[in-house]
Amino acid sequence: MTTASFPNRGQEADTAEVIARKQRYLFPNVATLYAEPLVLERGQGRTVWDSEGREYLDFYGGILTTSLAHSHPHVVEMMTEQIGKLMHTSTLYLNRPMVDLAERLARLSPGGDWKSFFTNSGTEANETAILLARVATGNQEVIALRHSYHGRSVVGMSLTGNAAWRHAGSEFSGIRHAHNAYCYRCAFGATYPACDLRCARDLAELIRTETTGRVAALIAEPIQGVGGFITPPPGYFEILAETVRQAGGLFISDEVQTGFGRTGRLFGWEHWSARPDVMTFAKGLANGAAVGATLADPKVADRFTGASISTFGGNPVSMVAAIATLDVIEGEAIPARVGRLGKRAFEGLQAMQEKHPGTIGDVRGKGLMIGIELVADGKAPAPHKLARMLELTREAGLLIGKGGLYGNVIRLTPPMTITESELDTGLETLAGCFDRLEGGR
Ligand SMILES: Cc1ncc(COP(=O)(O)O)c(C=O)c1O
Repeated sequence: MTTASFPNRGQEADTAEVIARKQRYLFPNVATLYAEPLVLERGQGRTVWDSEGREYLDFYGGILTTSLAHSHPHVVEMMTEQIGKLMHTSTLYLNRPMVDLAERLARLSPGGDWKSFFTNSGTEANETAILLARVATGNQEVIALRHSYHGRSVVGMSLTGNAAWRHAGSEFSGIRHAHNAYCYRCAFGATYPACDLRCARDLAELIRTETTGRVAALIAEPIQGVGGFITPPPGYFEILAETVRQAGGLFISDEVQTGFGRTGRLFGWEHWSARPDVMTFAKGLANGAAVGATLADPKVADRFTGASISTFGGNPVSMVAAIATLDVIEGEAIPARVGRLGKRAFEGLQAMQEKHPGTIGDVRGKGLMIGIELVADGKAPAPHKLARMLELTREAGLLIGKGGLYGNVIRLTPPMTITESELDTGLETLAGCFDRLEGGR
């Protein structure tokens, strides 16, 4: 597809009209970034264009979902071919791509033999995981972490440890929230490693005091995404996994954001030695095609024998999109590349932190999953600075993300094929925006 085939309807009036029609026809809860919503028209590689023809370097990938690149040729080619051949079957019939992807995922899974259940989103992948854990263990109660995000269904919202994303008194019974490992703002006012991981050790007491003592699962993101890329220190997950297993539960790793190379390893949990029993995926797995996948050790998966159906789960077009994405992730050794580029990005960001210590409180994450926590007056969360940085970076042609319980964490997650020079350009732009922020411009 060429630039010319996208007539630049680029009139401001047209953009204003799209925004006005959004207000009129979409639910008001469709939350957008920026004071004025950004209307995107086209994407190629790491670049996107808005409805007025303005170009942006994409450091967010549609929330870590355009994992390889916009319109990645291998993904486009495989999807296009599949669309012309067979677009839908439902799970009442088998299609080859669904089985191919399950086999591929099994090969990549920790035991080499895990089984898959496909759905359409991260929310559904987590719903499936919780249901599976209840069926497989016979226990009901589930532990999630504070500051987490696991989806927008009632179960998803109840698992989520962040008031901003829980609505209408959302409460699915039997869910308890354990401490996360937010070392920058430790709930116990302690410092690692002298803290002896009190946050993790508290789980045993939580289970003893707030549950029946037997739980179905603990679900956790290896790095909390919406929570602002909170990255636990060594030892935390090992204690959680062991504690939940002692209470009869499974350890579910929500890899919806960390999955498939993003952190410099194929799976986020690999940074710790706490192997999960179940993993969930969505977002980056299919480079933008709608997919959800729940993977489980066969000892667990095989206990779920009751019939279940997902009309669009295992959709052949989404399946080939995921297969094509994995072709590139494996074929181009993307996790190793992400590790290298992440190191380069961290160095650049640490220099920015040294220059702006009153604004950049913390830089954290792994690989190309980097959070920058903005502060004011010492360590007070500064969501106003983040709001300003969003507008400044937009003006400068850089798309960044937002997160954190206090809405004060910049999230940087460029497509994993980003080149060194694109990475440097984005970091220079960001540095210029921090200068402008500090200079009050
Ligand atoms: C860690 C995590 N789990 C689950 C979800 C829900 O995914 P979806 O929006 O595809 O339902 C998200 C979405 O941001 C997420 O970040």
